[in-house]
This record gives sequence, structure tokens and C-alpha cells, in this order.
Amino acid sequence: MLPLKEATAVKHKKAERMPFNVRMFKSLLSKNEYLLYLNQQLQIFNAIELSALPHSDLERSKNIQTDIDELNSQGYHTNHILSSTTAYVNYLNSLTYEHLLPHIYLNYLAIMFGGQVMKQAVPSTGRMYAFDNMQEALQSVRNVQKDEWADEVNKGFDFIISIFEELETECLNRQISSQIV
Ligand code: HEM
Repeated sequence: MLPLKEATAVKHKKAERMPFNVRMFKSLLSKNEYLLYLNQQLQIFNAIELSALPHSDLERSKNIQTDIDELNSQGYHTNHILSSTTAYVNYLNSLTYEHLLPHIYLNYLAIMFGGQVMKQAVPSTGRMYAFDNMQEALQSVRNVQKDEWADEVNKGFDFIISIFEELETECLNRQISSQIV
């Protein structure tokens, strides 16, 4: 059996290269666009955090809310939740804890790895990417991680990829409608 990272590498590359993600990585997102992204992240982490996490320092919901509050206080507002996000949240809510764990690996390690570079690129303080004790929190996921999770992690990547697709479409539509107005 392939190690988990290798068995999910194709989908990771696809997610990494999604146009919305590339724009985020290149510091090209507007505050409104980043706020739209944070709204989706909040839904995902709220759904996961209904269950106990392997380590309390993993918890992200409050930090994401702080990032949202920061942008709200600067006059940026949007509560829009994409249908692809609702689909992922409904799926997460349907899982047993055993099947939720691969999604914990997916979403929290995303923030710990790629996220540390992303923190420098986003138009906010980036509390979402800040962990009190990142090594311990990371180790708590590593301690439970299994190569058998590959199918479930790949399924999670598919949901994330759909969210990136819809984020980009939504941003393009907003640009077009602001030009019409
Ligand atoms: C621009 C976007 C991204 C960049 C630059 C990036 C970069 C990275 C890097 C450098 C690593 C460490 C690889 C290593 O250990 O050699 C990593 C790991 C990881 N990334 Fe990403 N990533 C991005 C997006 C994502 C997304 C969107 C997800 C899923 C939501 C994700 C999930 C993961 C996971 C689960 C790991 C841990 C793999 C493991 O060591 O088991 N990444 N990423």
C-alpha cells in the first residue's frame, strides 16, 4: 500500500494548481474575495469541530472568525456560502468519527503546510494559520494517520477542488456584474 502522501499526491497537485488558489498564493486576491474564501473555511471547520479533535490546539473556528471580524471591521461584508461548500459540510456531517479523521488530516495539515506560505500572501493578519503549539498539534494527527485513508482523503480533495472551482466562478461573475453596474 502506498504511503498516504503519495496516494493523494495527484489530487494535492490539482488542488494546489486551481486558479483561485494560485491567485491567493500570488497575493492577487482582493479582501472581498479572501473573505468569501474564509466564509467557506469557517463552514468546513465548524462542521469538523462539532467532534473532538486529536489536539485542542488544532481548533481553527475561533481564529477564522477573528480573521472574518477583521475584514468586517474594515467594511468588507459577505456571508455567502457556496453550494459546493454546503455539499462538503453535509458530507462531513454524515460521517462517523472514524471517517471524519481523514478530513481532519486533510484540512488541518493543509493549513500547517501550504498555509504557512499562504499566511504571507493573504490580505489579512492570517490568524487562521497561527497555532499555539504547531509541532504537538501536527504530531497528534500524525499519531492517528493511516495509509488506508487514501480513498477518503482523495474524496475530500474532490470536494475542496469543487469549492475552488466555484470560488473562481463566483469571483468572475462578481467582476462581470460590477462592470455592468
Ligand atoms: C498553494 C497551495 C498549496 C501549497 C503551496 C501546498 C504546499 C504543501 C507543502 C509544501 C506540503 C509539504 C509537503 C512535504 O512534506 O514535502 C504540503 C502538505 C500537505 N498539503 Fe498542501 N499545499 C497547498 C494546498 C493544499 C490544499 C488546498 C490542501 C487540502 C485542503 C492541502 C493539503 C495538504 C496535506 C494534507 C498535506 C500533508 C501531506 C503529508 O505530509 O502527509 N494542500 N502542502
